[in-house]
Amino acid sequence: MNKARILVTGGTGYIGSHTTVELINAGYDVVIIDNLSNSNREVLDGIEAITGVRPAFVEADCTDAAALRKLFEDYPGIKGIINFAASKAVGESVQKPILYYRNNLNTLMNLLELMPEFGVKGFVFSSSCTVYGEPDVNPVTEASPIKQATSPYGNTKQISEEVISDFVRSGAPISSIILRYFNPVGAHPSALIGELPNGVPQNLIPYLTQTAIGIRKELSVFGDDYNTPDGSCIRDFINVVDLAKAHVIAVERLIEDKTETPIEIFNLGTGNGVSVLELINTFESATGVKVPHKIVGRREGDIEKVWANPQRANEVLGWKAETPLADTMKSAWKWQLALRERGIM
Ligand code: NAD
Ligand code: WQD
Repeated sequence: MNKARILVTGGTGYIGSHTTVELINAGYDVVIIDNLSNSNREVLDGIEAITGVRPAFVEADCTDAAALRKLFEDYPGIKGIINFAASKAVGESVQKPILYYRNNLNTLMNLLELMPEFGVKGFVFSSSCTVYGEPDVNPVTEASPIKQATSPYGNTKQISEEVISDFVRSGAPISSIILRYFNPVGAHPSALIGELPNGVPQNLIPYLTQTAIGIRKELSVFGDDYNTPDGSCIRDFINVVDLAKAHVIAVERLIEDKTETPIEIFNLGTGNGVSVLELINTFESATGVKVPHKIVGRREGDIEKVWANPQRANEVLGWKAETPLADTMKSAWKWQLALRERGIM
């Protein structure tokens, strides 16, 4: 028997597709809305191949309130929303701030506004460790200070958290779990779904795997003169399937009314800081594939080091990142090989 019906916005995207798989595996009835601005319809085939279930799919834009309203009418009884739909390229957001504010904030406000009318109680929001900026102390807890955003993208996450909080405080009959992801990486172990970067990847792992397979000549390591043991930046790389599982727990907690306060915030990370150079080494030893790389200058706007204290998620949600980084690197490589086999890149 199906559990509750859940709306997943951005469900054909990277994290949304992995979360849809985990929701279906847990028995939920998933409806996806995506405008396919950064994903494609074939992702539904991957989800179906893994789970044996094809989720309902609505191709529409969440900034279109009328389309959203129709979705709630066509799919009655939605109990929770997981809101992944957003534009997420930090550099692009500096070039096109209005696009980012409009897409990310109008999506959020449309969803929130329709929730009471359609009796939807729970809202899970994809936030980011970007809200902590360059932390004074690592690892960061949920109580660590929020720093001035360094990009319009980052600012949309900070503003979104405030919009959710103000809406809940106004007495709206909803509750929300805000999840602050660190650096999601890897792919489903089946290699049937994964991350599909658009154009030249800006993020480390897709650039690394594309270099390993020969699409890119070499990976540039942005800086080895940071105040870290090997001089390269430190991040908390979290396996995307582990991350997806946290969403199932979060949405269940909301639907079953188990939250301690109407808004809860959780860091989703491993708790381990890993440097860029360590990550390259881990990839090479896990896969046996060399990654040509060279050290270049720092990338403007980069944070030197940030990693999570995930204790609150561990204890309150009963969730823990468990996939070893080597396995995550293997999954990223397997996905890159699958993309070549399928003639995608
Ligand atoms: P993604 O681009 O792969 O997925 C987002 C999906 O939303 C895409 O399929 C896109 O087509 C869709 N979308 C965008 N705007 C839409 C709209 N207006 N209406 C309908 N669909 C729309 O990104 P992702 O990596 O899966 O990220 C998911 C969420 O997690 C985003 O909110 C992102 O900001 C957040 N996040 C991502 C990371 C990361 O490193 N990947 C880290 C922290 C937070
Ligand atoms: C990781 C490290 C780079 C590419 C971004 C967003 C953040 C969050 C996650 C959404 C850095 C280094 C990278 C390359 C490199 N997203 N690097 N060579 O910058 O930690 O975070 O994604 O919320 O908001 O800013 O991720 O993967 O771009 O970089 O050396 O070709 O890898 O300098 O130290 P980042 P990333």
